[in-house]
Amino acid sequence: MKKKIIVTGGAGYIGSHTCVELIASNYEPIIIDNFYNSKHFIIDRIEEITGFRPDILDTNCLNYEQLRLKISSYNNINGIIHFAAYKAVGESTQKPLKYYQNNIGSTINMLKILEDFKFSSFIFSSSCTVYGQPKQLPVTEESPILLAESPYGRTKQICEDVISDYSKANSTLKAVSLRYFNPIGAHPSSLIGELPLGAPNNLVPFITQTAAGIRKELSIFGHDYSTSDGTCIRDYIHVVDLARAHVAALKFSEAKKNGLFEIFNLGSGQGNSVLEVVQAFEEICEEKLNYKFSPRRPGDVVEVYANVEKAKNEMGWETKLSLKDALKDAWNWELALRKNLITNE
Ligand code: UD1
Repeated sequence: MKKKIIVTGGAGYIGSHTCVELIASNYEPIIIDNFYNSKHFIIDRIEEITGFRPDILDTNCLNYEQLRLKISSYNNINGIIHFAAYKAVGESTQKPLKYYQNNIGSTINMLKILEDFKFSSFIFSSSCTVYGQPKQLPVTEESPILLAESPYGRTKQICEDVISDYSKANSTLKAVSLRYFNPIGAHPSSLIGELPLGAPNNLVPFITQTAAGIRKELSIFGHDYSTSDGTCIRDYIHVVDLARAHVAALKFSEAKKNGLFEIFNLGSGQGNSVLEVVQAFEEICEEKLNYKFSPRRPGDVVEVYANVEKAKNEMGWETKLSLKDALKDAWNWELALRKNLITNE
């Protein structure tokens, strides 16, 4: 019998790719999503890629009673992968209560559900934002947690603390927090990918929308940083590699007899500047990208990339896809969206 896994936010960007990889690894995802920042057609696409249509519980993770009721109709659920969260950094500074209530409240509810139904594995979606601007690079899981730049970042820190405290009180909990660096790209089928709400804040969707003629030009934020070409450095990871890491984390937790709370960095281990990303993209789409240099963006860290040895040694996971693979898949996804006139606005 297939193991069932609850995936909150399973219709979202990373969640949908993870559902595809779970199904490929013989798990049965049960998606909880209120479609706040995702579209129903993504479920059809998951089915088109995998041949399996996951069940959808259209519920807000803040609605504990409804969650309990809907989940009680299932047997053999093994664990929870918890993606559902608000993620717009800028908005979180304007509406901090919305972020604290949703992101922390839903994490607490999912832990309560885990306890109620005696599931054991809990995989949490965290972010490298918890490291702020690290003093030493690459960052390891032992690197200090610095003051978060935004309420969004702080919700990730607080949720990790909540899970850590709860793991001390509950010896059966097998929890893993995955700190994502910069997820980019799309499924190579071009059937699922990122659907930014309105104008994208993140670099790669802004690049692909500019190349597609939807945005006039890309603004490169800051050209005078203390890096080789003056632009910021990040660790970009293909979303399919990231999705595979969730399956590895699940297997890692299932293989352990005792309770645990482990943290893993998920990146490529390599830093690339904004200009390097732009140049790599230009090579892929064989056109010049319209861009200009603009002032620094407040809150941006200069340089961050991951040490990924722990994930490799303990979960047996490492990236297989390159920056160029990710940019090619992101571009094909953008072209597919335009062909089908799909927007998220
Ligand atoms: C951002 C969030 C981070 C979150 C992550 C999710 C901030 C400060 N951080 O990371 O908390 O976990 O997204 O993916 O928002 N850039 C441009 N022009 C653009 C957009 C971006 O030059 O139009 C540059 C940025 O200055 C940065 C790099 O591209 O140097 C990557 O930016 P972005 O994709 O927004 O990711 P992060 O800021 O690293």
